[in-house]
Amino acid sequence: SDGGIPALGVPDSTAGFLADGYEFGRRRFELVGGDAFRTRLMGRPVTVVFGAEAARMFTEGSRFSRERAMPSTVQHLLQDKGSVQTLEGKAHRHRKSLFIDVLEPAELGRLRERFVVAWGAQVAAAGGRPLAIADATPLALTRAALGWSGIPIELVDTEKLTEHLISMVDNAGRVGPSNWRARAKRHGTERWASEAIIAVRHGQIAVAEHSPIARLAGHRDAEGHPLSGEDAGVELLNLLRPIAAVSRFLAFTALALIEHPEWKERIRRGNHVDWFVNEVRRTAPFFPVVGGTARGAFDWRGSRVRSGDWVLLDLWATNHDRRIWREPDRFDPDRFATWDGDVNALIPQGPGSVDDGHRCPGEGATIALMEEFARFLVDADFRVPPQDLSSNLRHFPALPADHMRLAFAG
Ligand code: HEM
Repeated sequence: SDGGIPALGVPDSTAGFLADGYEFGRRRFELVGGDAFRTRLMGRPVTVVFGAEAARMFTEGSRFSRERAMPSTVQHLLQDKGSVQTLEGKAHRHRKSLFIDVLEPAELGRLRERFVVAWGAQVAAAGGRPLAIADATPLALTRAALGWSGIPIELVDTEKLTEHLISMVDNAGRVGPSNWRARAKRHGTERWASEAIIAVRHGQIAVAEHSPIARLAGHRDAEGHPLSGEDAGVELLNLLRPIAAVSRFLAFTALALIEHPEWKERIRRGNHVDWFVNEVRRTAPFFPVVGGTARGAFDWRGSRVRSGDWVLLDLWATNHDRRIWREPDRFDPDRFATWDGDVNALIPQGPGSVDDGHRCPGEGATIALMEEFARFLVDADFRVPPQDLSSNLRHFPALPADHMRLAFAG
């Protein structure tokens, strides 16, 4: 070893990663007794890190680019070429500001209202039959996202679009046929999205002047050039796809309310739904890691990180870090009563700052939708049919086995 960061005793950890899933990092940080280790994944040398200090190193000072930072199958489903995730520096900040603007808190009321209406309609249509939250809410979320974005919903086959958006998320953790199928769908959905942008630009679809779709269609890059139809389409999907994916957190919101019924009463009384939702985001398995490629050499933990080195920041391990969270495996929203709000501690949606780094610009939207859903559930009359509530933490992304089925009174 050439320094302070220990190497694991095995040459390649790909098998261990598949065997341990989300828990891969936690088990090995425990083993090495530190917040970093070196190994290989899919043959490529990698340094895996966790915790608030590691997150700060990862996100501050622009030390890492997101290029070659994730396996290419994930890259193609979740972050396409030309998208905000692949930009750095000035170009990134400029593109990011578009997302920050359209997702401003003042814009989110329309999103949550549309979601409540669309979801209410689906519950009514189910007529008392059980709905799997993870499978049913994406449609309401997609309809809400389209309406919020300004795209006339009647021009869209919302069921097909929803299926395509969700298949991108579901298959991001897989390789092989299901991933190829999802990638083929992605190309069809990208074509639809860029055609929507072009139609807005040509005035073929009338949209409100300040709607997200109008701002996206009219956005100019840092040099003053409009985005290509393709790039603008990719960014439209960067708004619609993750809103549909909030369904996963909604399934875990329902699960947490069922497992901790005292919170039903507290939320009904208007008591800290924000803590509850943060605790669901901290404990629910979704993005296990984010990756980066070092843009230059630097020293950390007594080791040299060289230009081109691959580093993974373990989000799951950081959200369960004993140094930050007392009894990390316990679901306890009250822990947020005394939380200091460190941007590198609660990182289910990435570390650091939204403006300067790659942190998710959709956190406010995610929280708004989860809070709305929690409020809906505490007032709803439903039963929980017999089912498997456990999540397989070897599967990326994880979900309760039966996708969280609830039967609402008809
Ligand atoms: C980036 C998670 C919801 C839009 C990210 C990143 C993560 C993440 C881990 C990468 C952060 C990094 O690289 O450091 C999630 C989770 C969500 C969610 C778990 C809950 C379902 C949303 C929503 C939107 C959104 C609702 C938009 C409406 C984006 C965009 C980026 C991003 C555009 C790229 C930001 C950049 O590269 O600067 N998200 N996200 N996400 N997310 Fe989210």
